[in-house]
Amino acid sequence: MTAPRPLIAGNWKMNGLAASLAEAKAVAAGLGDTAARVALCPSATLVAQMAWTLKDSAVLVGGQDCHAQASGAHTGDVAAEQLADAGAKLVIVGHSERRADHGETDAAVAAKTLAALRAGLEPIVCVGETLEQRKAGDTLAVVTGQVRGSLPAELAGKAFSVAYEPVWAIGTGLTPTTPEIEDVHRAIRATLTELFGEAGRAVPILYGGSVKPSNAVEILHADEVGGALVGGASLKADDFLGIIRAL
Ligand code: PGA
Repeated sequence: MTAPRPLIAGNWKMNGLAASLAEAKAVAAGLGDTAARVALCPSATLVAQMAWTLKDSAVLVGGQDCHAQASGAHTGDVAAEQLADAGAKLVIVGHSERRADHGETDAAVAAKTLAALRAGLEPIVCVGETLEQRKAGDTLAVVTGQVRGSLPAELAGKAFSVAYEPVWAIGTGLTPTTPEIEDVHRAIRATLTELFGEAGRAVPILYGGSVKPSNAVEILHADEVGGALVGGASLKADDFLGIIRAL
């Protein structure tokens, strides 16, 4: 089984107006030759415009969340089919901010993952422990439990990735040590091969949480790290390109 092609995805979160599309354009213009697949995930309001702006580039566009249903009476929500219709190719599901702000359980995340597959989107399924869970020594149990609960069996044979994002590392400037990242990524890999057999080896496992150009070389070359999910540092093209070039 060949190593998965790394994925570097930018998560703009609730940031960005139409003027920010200039940053997306600059990412596309500066990409050059890279071993990575590169994606930007803006707010739903920008997905269609960004997809149009990047249509002749190698940069893919993704959503940040999707509803489990294809349509219906769910005011304010966005269906995976709507994201796909707007030009998205991927979607983040189960981000810890969604789990915390909207009470999303593993079962809800699994339903959203299924919705992504139904719409032909490649899901990026997020997992990660809180600081309390890490301090209690529960990191591996929590994360592998989230992987089992959030990944439906229907992912077998489909393109998807898992993003390990320690909650305490998101937006804080803190990161786990490289051996700590490797411990968790190896545990996720073992769970993936248990769930999906040999195919589980081809699933990129992204690291996310305070990735920036200055720590990207070390993180991206750690064992079982197959890319990054980047928040703050994806908002500026220069920073995001610096991370992509660290591969
Ligand atoms: P950060 O966010 O890079 O700003 O820490 C990562 C994420 O939440 O995906």
